[in-house]
Amino acid sequence: MTELVFAGVDIAYGSGRAAHDVVHNVSLTVPSGRIMGLVGESGSGKSTLARAAVGLHEPRSGRIQLDGTNVVNARGGKAALRRRIQMVFQDANSSLNPRMSIGAAIEEAILVRSGAARRDRVRRGDEVRRMLELVELDPRRSDDLPMQLSGGQRQRVAIARALAAEPQVLLADEITSALDVSVQGTVLNLLMQVHRQLGLTVLFISHNLAIVRQLCDEVTVMRAGEIVETGIASKVIDNPKHPYTRALIGAVPRVGERLLGEGVRS
Ligand SMILES: Nc1ncnc2c1ncn2[C@@H]1O[C@H](COP(=O)(O)OP(=O)(O)O)[C@@H](O)[C@H]1O
Ligand SMILES: [Mg+2]
Repeated sequence: MTELVFAGVDIAYGSGRAAHDVVHNVSLTVPSGRIMGLVGESGSGKSTLARAAVGLHEPRSGRIQLDGTNVVNARGGKAALRRRIQMVFQDANSSLNPRMSIGAAIEEAILVRSGAARRDRVRRGDEVRRMLELVELDPRRSDDLPMQLSGGQRQRVAIARALAAEPQVLLADEITSALDVSVQGTVLNLLMQVHRQLGLTVLFISHNLAIVRQLCDEVTVMRAGEIVETGIASKVIDNPKHPYTRALIGAVPRVGERLLGEGVRS
């Protein structure tokens, strides 16, 4: 169980005179084992914030901590600390090698990110099978190439690769936005299942407020690099305090309807 904390985080693109701030003084806590939604219009800095937590951007100032330990510029054991936070992106294609079988891709993720014991050759086949089963893919499809899978199945492989590192925190950045509506529900169900099964702390970035209301314990609303509102997801979405949150909800006419059918939260 792990708490993820952003404290006074500033992130800029470019340097010197060309630098422009895209995240300003963001403080946000994702409590251990909970799901925090992060919403806001495109360009508000959601992805930038999440990417900083996996070391893809270095904040200009502020801290990003796992259970009180800095993940940015952490000395010694940095790789081990980083491994505890994994990110899944919108486009599974960009994170999968088209010429590598999905079994090999998962095996690679296990080998890169785990210690000697888990690398045991004999057990390796079992580990890949276990990861495929965890994301509800048929282990017999281990030799398939990404192109032989549907978009939803590829996103399951991306989730399996992230989980191969045995993280405590998962950052899910618009993970169903590129998928057909018909398969979004199954991927979200899977996310909820592994969240519960593994006790993962999750930051769930989405522009779909109906989904956030259904899945998330809390929600944080970002606008132009700053947090405008945060709280219990159902309260914030049903009764927003900030005009920007109200505008965001107004832009999504179907909030409140069940978009995913029964069972997502059950
Ligand atoms: N690699 C980059 N270089 C320069 N500016 C970027 C880069 N990536 C994103 N930005 C800018 O940073 C801002 C925040 O982007 P992003 O974090 O992707 O927002 P969101 O995920 O909320 O849509 C936007 O203005 C975007 O244009
Ligand atoms: Mg984004």
